[in-house]
Amino acid sequence: MSRNYISKNTVDKIISARSVVFFTGAGISAESGIPIFRGKDGIWNKLKPDELANFNSFLKNPDLVWEWYNHRKKVIHESEPNKGHLTIAEFEKILPDVIVVTQNIDNLHKRAGSTNVYELHGNIERNYCIKCNKFYNGEIELKDSAPRCECGGLIRPDVVWFGEYLPQEQFIASEKAAQDSDVFFIVGTSAVVYPAASLIYTAKENGAYMVEINLEPTEASGIVNDSLLGKAGDILPDLLNEVKNKLS
Ligand code: APR
Repeated sequence: MSRNYISKNTVDKIISARSVVFFTGAGISAESGIPIFRGKDGIWNKLKPDELANFNSFLKNPDLVWEWYNHRKKVIHESEPNKGHLTIAEFEKILPDVIVVTQNIDNLHKRAGSTNVYELHGNIERNYCIKCNKFYNGEIELKDSAPRCECGGLIRPDVVWFGEYLPQEQFIASEKAAQDSDVFFIVGTSAVVYPAASLIYTAKENGAYMVEINLEPTEASGIVNDSLLGKAGDILPDLLNEVKNKLS
């Protein structure tokens, strides 16, 4: 597919930008084989978020929640960053300031080589005790029940569940990144989950040039300057090539 669907204006904005932010969601990891949450193939069509991604349900049935997160961890460990993740890491090498603000807990941006990554919803590779807050990173051996801390407390994944606050330090840094961004990409997110989605409007209000990359229009489509419909793993490499051509 020729790249003439990418506007000259979008390429010029990227090249002249002091700071570029990539705000990403589950859609950027879909091509790595990690299911998204909403839409016809979405996880939340089959499973109940209030049973699996909710603190009170965790207290009621920690084994079920752990079974679910270990299943997700297994899928994530069997997957690789795709062209979308890898291209964003490439942009970081050729542009002055590139920041990734992700809603994903799959660690794939970091595995792709991105170094400036803010994780709004936590990271599945980290865990902590809900009683003494001791952190357990990496593999936690799952016996036939939810893991316990040496203090006896229940250990939970360090991810944000519905109704919980986002990690303040990550959110505040992401807000600053959105305010300072000259170009703000919205990649593979339905843009319906708050407060994460509020960053889109923070960037817009602060004058960023907004570019959406998604298979289909979303809640945010009405405010973007350029809407590139298709797979992130196809569009991002095309965009990078256009930018590299212009820089060379
Ligand atoms: N390329 C680009 N976009 C894609 C692709 C792809 N290959 N595949 C799917 N998409 C788009 C879908 O069209 C949809 O708009 O990605 C979006 C995924 O939306 P959601 O499933 O709602 O995921 P997300 O927006 O990340 O959800 C936000 O909700 O469930 C919670 O905590 C969870 O972080 C998550 C948050």
